[in-house]
Amino acid sequence: MIFKKYPKNWHVEKGHPLTEMDKKILSFQNKGHLVPSRKLIKTPEQIEGIRKSGVVNTGVLDLVAREIHAGMSTAEIDKLVYDYTVSHGAIPAPLNYEGFPKSCCTSINEVVCHGIPNEEEILEEGDIINVDVSTILDGYFSDASRMFVIGKTSPEKQKLVDVAKECLEIGMQAAKPYCFVGDIGNAIQKHAHKNGFSVVRDLCGHGVGLEFHEEPDVEHYGKKGTGMLLVPGMVFTIEPMINMGTWQVFIDEEDEWTVVTEDELPSAQWEHTFVMTEHGVEILTY
Ligand code: MF3
Ligand code: CO
Repeated sequence: MIFKKYPKNWHVEKGHPLTEMDKKILSFQNKGHLVPSRKLIKTPEQIEGIRKSGVVNTGVLDLVAREIHAGMSTAEIDKLVYDYTVSHGAIPAPLNYEGFPKSCCTSINEVVCHGIPNEEEILEEGDIINVDVSTILDGYFSDASRMFVIGKTSPEKQKLVDVAKECLEIGMQAAKPYCFVGDIGNAIQKHAHKNGFSVVRDLCGHGVGLEFHEEPDVEHYGKKGTGMLLVPGMVFTIEPMINMGTWQVFIDEEDEWTVVTEDELPSAQWEHTFVMTEHGVEILTY
């Protein structure tokens, strides 16, 4: 049963014959579901543009994977990201985004996301760190993040990193054409809870491609059959943030960016940018 009244986002111009896609989307809209607007469905040219942006983005993360080590500062990671991106004719999307001062986010241990790279912050053996990289190439945005384990970590932290990765994979498998955002969140939440972990609720995945953050919000928890309908041509991220303890978080008052777990227990996150196809999602940030 759907109680919420959603805007009727899908329009068909008068006199235009209905395509199969129009018919499907209109039938969901008429049943009261939230459906995308036409601008959220990318053209094949736009998808190719986002794919090329994703190739640079993946190159950055592969470089970080090769270079990251104990004793390195997060500012050094930021410099790798900036130099690689710019030398490939692209722009790091985080730089100056709503005042963000650096080219990527580096989030260690209890930092959930949006950690700001810093000269004084040195990676130590046993740390787990998320490096979140987003690229603008020829106006097209891509967005992905990975976890890195510095040397060897505790079994508990290693399990958190592994389960967070499984949550992304399970979310991806749940993402079928004409499914709902809530189907993805529900699958992720179940896997996290089964492993004794919690899912961050205050931050979510998002549409991406022509802008950094577009509709829809992709929550990593929720009920099946709720949230926006996902149809072929939509491009969005899935980026579950999984906590060892409570799902609750706070934002650092000094820098107004860094998101930290309320109980200061560790958090892990993995992210890809996906395009929905007729068969399921394809990763654009491999
Ligand atoms: N890359 C983040 C995301 O996954 C957004 C970071 S915004 C920034 O959506 F300004 F902190 F970079
Ligand atoms: Co994102």
